[in-house]
Amino acid sequence: MRQIAARSAIWHPRSRRAERLTFLFFFPRSGYTFPMEHMKRTVTCGELRKEDTDKTVILNGWVHRKRDHGGISFINLRDRYGLTQVVIDTDSPAELASLAPELKMEYCLAIEGIVRQRPDTMINPDMATGEIEVVAKKIEVLSKSEVLPFMIDEKSSASEELRLKYRYLDLRSATMQKHLALRSQVAFATRDYLTSLGFYEIETPTFIKSTPEGARDYLVPSRLYPGQFYALPQSPQLYKQILMVSGFDKYFQIARCYRDEDARGDRQPEFTQIDIEMSFVSRDDILSLVEGMMGHIFRTTMNVQLPATFRRIAYDDAIELYGTDKPELRFDMEMQDGAFLADMGSFQAFKDALSAGGKIKALVVPAQADKYSRKNIEELESTAKIYKAKGLAWMKVNKTTEGQPLLEGGIAKFFEGKSADICTALGAKTGDLLLFVADSKPKIACTALGAVRTRLGKDLGLCTEGVFAFAWIVDFPMFEYNEEENRWETAHHMFTWPQDRFHATLESDPGSVKGDLYDLVLNGYELASGSIRIHDPKLQKRIFKIVGFDEAEGEKKFGFLTEAFKYGAPPHGGIAPGLDRLVMLMAGETSIKEVIAFPKNSFAQSPMDDCPGEVDAKQLEELHLKIVKD
Ligand code: AMO
Ligand code: AMP
Repeated sequence: MRQIAARSAIWHPRSRRAERLTFLFFFPRSGYTFPMEHMKRTVTCGELRKEDTDKTVILNGWVHRKRDHGGISFINLRDRYGLTQVVIDTDSPAELASLAPELKMEYCLAIEGIVRQRPDTMINPDMATGEIEVVAKKIEVLSKSEVLPFMIDEKSSASEELRLKYRYLDLRSATMQKHLALRSQVAFATRDYLTSLGFYEIETPTFIKSTPEGARDYLVPSRLYPGQFYALPQSPQLYKQILMVSGFDKYFQIARCYRDEDARGDRQPEFTQIDIEMSFVSRDDILSLVEGMMGHIFRTTMNVQLPATFRRIAYDDAIELYGTDKPELRFDMEMQDGAFLADMGSFQAFKDALSAGGKIKALVVPAQADKYSRKNIEELESTAKIYKAKGLAWMKVNKTTEGQPLLEGGIAKFFEGKSADICTALGAKTGDLLLFVADSKPKIACTALGAVRTRLGKDLGLCTEGVFAFAWIVDFPMFEYNEEENRWETAHHMFTWPQDRFHATLESDPGSVKGDLYDLVLNGYELASGSIRIHDPKLQKRIFKIVGFDEAEGEKKFGFLTEAFKYGAPPHGGIAPGLDRLVMLMAGETSIKEVIAFPKNSFAQSPMDDCPGEVDAKQLEELHLKIVKD
């Protein structure tokens, strides 16, 4: 390799100031690279082992920790690959001893040294490079660091606002490095799997026409057309369907989506979907494709073997058993129907709920009777009340001197002499805690007790880390009634195929129509949503009408799609797993901010670059905009 030192001028776009930098030109056998002139690393900070003893190496990295012990300094040098202990001692040149005190946390250094095996007593089994250290011979300070706003630890303990303000430092932590590596691997595995099956990755525009899609749009004003706006896509939905009309029968895209909705743990204004669409398929083809894809992703990135197929639960059953369409399935504890209790005792709330057409839902919490005091149960009741329950009734299963089950406490007094029957019906054993919610609205009884179930799962530590409980929720209702606006809305989106058996009764009984819709849930989160789409313009018009779009409105908002469907649209369907949620769950986190390099805070701001920010008057003028402040 021939090296020629050369000087080259680069133009710094910010300062508009030419800076002179020195480059080393390397001419390897083919092509060449231009490394800057510094001691360039020969190894990373994660790779040296005992076998490398006596080698001369160069490391590049950051000062992670430093300890000075009267004449000997230890520096833990860190890069993306790990940590290596560097020693400045009597074996190092004298000038390094005077340099050592000047080397501060997070200085970026190049260190040349000799690998030395650590004495047995000094071996650090927690460090991959813990058997060796590097005795420094030469140190070059590549750049200095100001005093840090927080320590770079395994996992940052700074406040979220500070972490986001100094995101570049936060991203140096081992945890964030690991999360972003995982995210990159998941994206690669996704592309690898889908392209191997003949999918094309096709980009769709991010400046699109605003169409009603559920959330609020982010809008981009047009300079050329005063008063007109582009919208940022909430998802590539319409474009991927049009790509099916164009014959790209297997499409995917790792797509950015934008929704102006309140941020929370599993939601960001800007997020990423693994967007998929296929032609000439049925629902089951799409479900098995995603099962295969998840299997591949988990196997190749985490060495976790998923089941070949995931359990399928009808939406109505999910609500009955778990009170939610995104059940946490790492534990069972299914809710049961307690209708039989209305006649069995004299508890009025049960009788009232049932006679008003409602439900009594029951939950058996194994072996928790002794552990839940009245106060603990009141806390559970407050959870039920968030979901509009009127109360949370309870009993504990004790036993008689003959060893028979005996219900005690709470509402047991209303069921005297019925303990054995109730316990048999609910499958309850001595020591169990029984919880009930009754309501005249069946859905309230289910969701409220379901929320108690979910909370118990967390409180009792039933959600084992490292376990991935996937399931499909299928047979969703096609329409939901919007009580405020007094009209039917589509539960997913307007392009979902109503299941064939309901086509005759779409208009007469929208509430009972099931859509060809499916969600993938993982550990209590909705991971993906999808559906078989309508490809028949006539059926599409019927749906528009049911949700209150007149023909002209439907034509104006989605005309291009219905127009495209006039030209031989194939039957098609698709799905979109959220990449952020997927990586979050794989990483065992509870916020997608932990797996996004530069997320927004809960107020949709980025404290690092102070975004969103004001723009100058000239820009507003060019965009024909005037700001009216309240
Ligand atoms: P949907 O709106 O259900 O469907 O979104 C699909 C998946 O995207 C993820 N997701 C989000 N992730 C982070 N922040 C958000 N604000 C956010 N919103 C959604 C979730 C969700 O399951 N076009 C349809 C899909 C289809 O029918 O093919 C769609 O966007 O993981
Ligand atoms: P009350 O008769 O209102 O004092 O309630 C007695 C117990 O029954 C309390 O623990 C309430 O939380 C509970 N409770 C009241 N209404 C309901 C209901 N609809 N479903 C379940 N529990 C209820």
